[in-house]
Amino acid sequence: MELFLDTASVDEVRHGAETGLISGVTTNPTLAAKAGRDYNDVLKEICSIIKGPVSAETVSLDAEGMVKEGVAFSKIAKNIVVKVPMTVEGMRACQRLTKKGIKVNVTLVFSANQALLAAKSGAFMVSPFVGRLDDIGKIGMEVVREIKQVYDNYKFTTQILVASVRNPIHVLDAAKIGADIATVPYSVFEQLFKHTLTDAGIKKFLEDWEKVPKKK
Ligand code: G3P
Repeated sequence: MELFLDTASVDEVRHGAETGLISGVTTNPTLAAKAGRDYNDVLKEICSIIKGPVSAETVSLDAEGMVKEGVAFSKIAKNIVVKVPMTVEGMRACQRLTKKGIKVNVTLVFSANQALLAAKSGAFMVSPFVGRLDDIGKIGMEVVREIKQVYDNYKFTTQILVASVRNPIHVLDAAKIGADIATVPYSVFEQLFKHTLTDAGIKKFLEDWEKVPKKK
């Protein structure tokens, strides 16, 4: 499973890239507002750091506007993927952008039926939001499991990008189900490395190393 960072912070992308473990980035208007900089400038910088897919989200509500925004985003860099929402207009835009050779990530997906429509519209990626489903008392990962089953049944090549990830358990569950990608906030990425036994183990090895006789 690939790991993407869900961020519009260029610093976080840079730190993530330095680990050699991050292969893409997803952004959205909320993350762009947090970054507090021109969205296009941020996308350009991120695309120069990360060579894999970088998702840029449209804000129009009609297909025409989404296509226009998507075409403009696609000129920023070769690795831009255009995010459109799971609506009728979004699916019309997805079909049109895909026909133009522009990759689309269908976002705000909360059911396997929505993911089926995205795949049939030629989406390159689909983003089920697991955390937001958990927030309303549903089990977000169940939707990911259903999407995986539907896509496997019909050999859809649309990639399942698990989004709205809030903790390492979401990452593990996504990997167990066989999702293609989990996009994670930087804080969750950092948590993935950590284990108290690893820290304790390093401490003990260093203490014991001091006791090993060394030649002068
Ligand atoms: O990029 C979309 C997604 O990951 C949003 O996450 O935490 O705002 O539900 P969240």
